[in-house]
Amino acid sequence: MEALGNLGRSQLLLIATGVAILGYVYTIFSNPLRRIPGPWYTLWTYTIFKYKVVTGQRPQWVHSLHEKYGPVVRITPNEVSIQDVNAVLRMYQIKGEFLKSHFYKDLIPDVQSVFSTTDVNYHRHQRRLLASEMSESGLAHHMDTVETKVRMAIENMAEEMEQRGATDVYRWSLYMATDVIGELSFGSSFRMLETKEENQYVKDLKMIGFAGGLRSTFPFLMKVHRYITLPVLSTGMLIRERMRGYATQSLGRHYKLVEEQGRNAKPTLLSKLYRATEDDHDTLPFEDLLQNAMAYIAAGSDTTTNTLTYLIWTVCKRPDVKAKLVAELSTLPDGFTDHDLKKLPYLEMVVQETLRLYAAAPSGLPRVVPQGGATLTGHFIPGGYTVSAQAYSMHRIPSVYPEPEKYDPSRWANPTRAMKDAFVPFGGGSRICIGLHLAKMELRLATARFFTRFPNATTSYLDGFTDKDMEPVMFFLMSPKGQRCLINAR
Ligand code: HEM
Repeated sequence: MEALGNLGRSQLLLIATGVAILGYVYTIFSNPLRRIPGPWYTLWTYTIFKYKVVTGQRPQWVHSLHEKYGPVVRITPNEVSIQDVNAVLRMYQIKGEFLKSHFYKDLIPDVQSVFSTTDVNYHRHQRRLLASEMSESGLAHHMDTVETKVRMAIENMAEEMEQRGATDVYRWSLYMATDVIGELSFGSSFRMLETKEENQYVKDLKMIGFAGGLRSTFPFLMKVHRYITLPVLSTGMLIRERMRGYATQSLGRHYKLVEEQGRNAKPTLLSKLYRATEDDHDTLPFEDLLQNAMAYIAAGSDTTTNTLTYLIWTVCKRPDVKAKLVAELSTLPDGFTDHDLKKLPYLEMVVQETLRLYAAAPSGLPRVVPQGGATLTGHFIPGGYTVSAQAYSMHRIPSVYPEPEKYDPSRWANPTRAMKDAFVPFGGGSRICIGLHLAKMELRLATARFFTRFPNATTSYLDGFTDKDMEPVMFFLMSPKGQRCLINAR
């Protein structure tokens, strides 16, 4: 009897396994994305995709698939990557019917901000409160603050140069960008350029990309990280919790300033948000203010840092580009401002070409195909599936940007329509980067100040620094592998 019972149980187990396998196979073969070009395994499993995300190689991997399979390629059982100008214009159009996907909720769990929300009305409301201060005219009030931080960064570089024989432009760019966004958003910053300390805050800023990669790849494990001990996975949530602490401290500093200075307190990038939290008519929960503060700290520091670092490094490696840039900068009046810099065509080309070749947010920006589906680049993708385009691939379409791996600022002298449309370092449509004017202001000012002060700057070989340190690691954001960039700036 017992033997029979055992036989029954093992048969039941066999049948259950068979049914599960059949169910899985059915799901695979009924998946409408099976007709989309792509490697077979991307129809069956997320494993390779996840591996590429957590090892910081997603953009390069997706790009290699585009090179093999063409402009439309399946990258997971649920997601298609697109490398086509017309499709991208549609996916990221202003009247965005392609909403941000669940990826953003995994990246920033449990709460929402202007960056992460998938709710159209919520986004519109937040963006309305933030947009005017971030516009070119709104930022004009903050130019002096940016200028002061840039000058301090350059002074610190010069000092380090004297003492050490080289300066780490990655370090000073990070301190500069984080002090700029801190001061503009909260009225005061963590004063990294003054303390010059590699503290926990800086360490966390450097880890933001990796931590985000973990959270978006293992959302379930992130939810249970408090109950199980998996140190690597916990990193993603611990950094997020510490970032929350930094934002809380920053808001605390802001409220103290307002208390001390009353109506004389300088307006900040978040002024309207602060008012909305206090105003009865337009109530904004404090948590939302905090989340937007965190979004500004995270989105406003790493991105600008890495772009500036790659810009200086690349120009230093290209004497022809440097000579042209330095010659143009030499025409500037003493005490130049960003108004003067906006008139310099070659400086603008250098910034554009850096944003193209070293896009600081190189990964796919996932969007959900609206109900009814959409035909993109000749392929029908049903509603509910995810599509994404990545700056890394858009910026390397050979028919749009000939010799795409070549750093060639002069390609921007007379850009074609296609070059402008394929250029998406700041994303697109209603979700385009709100900080793009600020980022470009910082990049212009820092580049001009750096190369007028150090016209003979070259890359350094001090402390074993090589081009390998500058190999990009690409999570959602990109940074140099060695997290340093040594320049001989005598
Ligand atoms: C070179 C520097 C920068 C680059 C390359 C960059 C890139 C991007 C990209 C690609 C997006 C779109 C993300 C998506 O659709 O998923 C974005 C959004 C955003 N960025 Fe930036 N960014 C930069 C600087 C900044 C700065 C300085 C701030 C300052 C606050 C900022 C704040 C934001 C915010 C809040 C969003 C979300 C906007 C929305 O969804 O409405 N970024 N950025």
